[in-house]
Amino acid sequence: MITRKKIIAGNWKMNKTQAEARVLVEDLLRDIGRFDAAEIVLCPPFTALAAVSELLSTETNLRLGAQNLSEHASGAYTGEISAAMLKELYVRYVIIGHSERRHYQNENNALINRKIKAALAAEIKPIVCIGETLPEREASHWKKVLETQLTEGLAGFTEEQLADIVLAYEPIWAIGTGKTATPAQAEEAHQFIRQQVGKLFSAAASDRVRIQYGGSVKPENARELLTQPNIDGALVGGASLDGRGFTAIIKNACAE
Ligand code: PGA
Repeated sequence: MITRKKIIAGNWKMNKTQAEARVLVEDLLRDIGRFDAAEIVLCPPFTALAAVSELLSTETNLRLGAQNLSEHASGAYTGEISAAMLKELYVRYVIIGHSERRHYQNENNALINRKIKAALAAEIKPIVCIGETLPEREASHWKKVLETQLTEGLAGFTEEQLADIVLAYEPIWAIGTGKTATPAQAEEAHQFIRQQVGKLFSAAASDRVRIQYGGSVKPENARELLTQPNIDGALVGGASLDGRGFTAIIKNACAE
């Protein structure tokens, strides 16, 4: 059995000015700057990436992530940000296909697939979000939804490329609602996702792929969720905006 290093990412969404970001990152550097039992990724908004990047240029295990990128390399795309622009700021990860972008920006699996391609071409690791809505869960369609998101989103990639992709299972009904999937529900979905990766790629790829859980992760539930056998980390929204809370999530999840 392969051991998968946990990866815990903070998705700040549309929060934190540069000044606020600096305060938070300084706190995190002090508390978990050298923490190495998990990979830790901070995903500020575009406007704070440069400021956070500068602070992370010191010796630290904290890594920089972005929340989105353009599928295009350059050109007349007003308001868009390319992979090369992110790369220049030492961005190592990028969240792709977050449910808020699928919902508000109408991002579909085909676009998400092209964005993953753009990220990989620039050697930025995609964190690819998938997950079902509440009606889909209640109608027992969640497996079908996840299967389609994986099949279409990951179409055309090689097993070698998959090794640079992190998946994030985020049941939409648990995002920002305070309603967390139970550890058993989350584990069942993660197990299913891993099986699908096995079908689409190989048993070795399915064994290796890291799958984060996201949706109302908090210091109080992080340990129970992240000790499930198929949960390899967390994508944390609201609770990552507070230094003490995010630190507690990481420490609780990784305690021996
Ligand atoms: P939440 O968000 O932790 O605030 O529920 C998670 C996410 O959307 O990535």
